[in-house]
Amino acid sequence: MPLGLYMVIHLTTNASLMNSPETFQRAVYMIHSAGKALPLIEWGGIFIPLLFHGILGVWIAKNAKLNTSHYRFASNRRYAWQRYTGIVALVYLFFHILHLHGWFHFGPYLEVIRPLQFAAFKPYNAASTLVESMNQWGGFVWPAFYLVGMMCCVYHLANGLWTAGITWGLWITPAAQKRASKVSVVFGAVLSVIALSAWWAAVAPGPEEAAQYREIENRMYDANLESGVISDMPEKRYEEPAAEASVAPDAQSPRANAQKADSNDSNPL
Ligand code: HEM
Repeated sequence: MPLGLYMVIHLTTNASLMNSPETFQRAVYMIHSAGKALPLIEWGGIFIPLLFHGILGVWIAKNAKLNTSHYRFASNRRYAWQRYTGIVALVYLFFHILHLHGWFHFGPYLEVIRPLQFAAFKPYNAASTLVESMNQWGGFVWPAFYLVGMMCCVYHLANGLWTAGITWGLWITPAAQKRASKVSVVFGAVLSVIALSAWWAAVAPGPEEAAQYREIENRMYDANLESGVISDMPEKRYEEPAAEASVAPDAQSPRANAQKADSNDSNPL
C-alpha cells in the first residue's frame, strides 16, 4: 500500500514537468524541504517496504503454478503477468533508483558510482539533470528501459490491487470481482496516461532545453535561498565536470560562467 501510494504521487509529480520546469522544481523543493528527515522517510516509507515486497514477491513468483498453456482464461493470464511484471519492476526499480537517486549518499560510495553516471539527479537542478540523465548512453537506452519498466509497474499495481482485494475477501462473488476488475482497468488506464506524460516530459527534451531549464533553476535557487524556502546544500546542485571547471573562466561556456557567478553570489566565502 505505501509503495502504490508513493508511485501515484511520484508519477504525478514527475508529470508536472509537462507543465514547466518551474512547476516540477517547486514540487521537488517541497519534497526536499523535509531536509535531514528525508533519508528516514525514504528508507522507512519507500526502500524498506520495497525490499520487503520485492523479497516476498520473488518467493511468491518462484512458487507460482503457471498453467496458461492449458487454461487460456484471461484471469489465468493476468495471474502469470502479475508475476512477470513483478520481476521486471524489481529489476527496473533497482536500476532506476541507482540511476537517479543512487540508493546511498556518502562520499566514497558516491565517488565510485558518479563516474559511472549513476546518482545523476540533482534535486536543486531537477528538470535539467533529469533530462540529461535520460540523454546518457546515446539517448535511447534509458528511455526504452524506463518505458518498459514503468508500464510493468503500472500493470503490477493496477492488477495487484484487484488480486489483493480477492485475497483479503473484499470482492468474493463473480459479479463483485467483475466490477472490481473494471475499476482496476480504469485505474490502470489513468495511471498509464500519467506515467506516459512523466516519461515524455523527461525523454523528449534535448541538451538545449536542459541548458534553458538550468538557467531557470539557478534563478529559482537564488530566490528561494534568499527567502529561506531552501537551505544552501551544494551537494543537491549540479556541478560542472572538473575538466570544464578548471578551464579559464573566459574560455568557458556562458552557462558555466553564469553558474559560477551564481554560486559566488550565494556563497560570500
Ligand atoms: C518516467 C517515469 C519516472 C521518472 C521520470 C522518475 C523520476 C525519478 C527521480 C527524478 C527520482 C530521484 C528523486 C530524488 O533523488 O530526489 C526518482 C526516484 C525514485 N523513483 Fe522514480 N521516476 C519514474 C518512474 C518510477 C516508477 C514507475 C516507480 C515505481 C514505484 C518509481 C519509483 C522510484 C523510487 C522508489 C525512487 C527513490 C525514492 C526517492 O528518491 O525518494 N519511479 N524517480
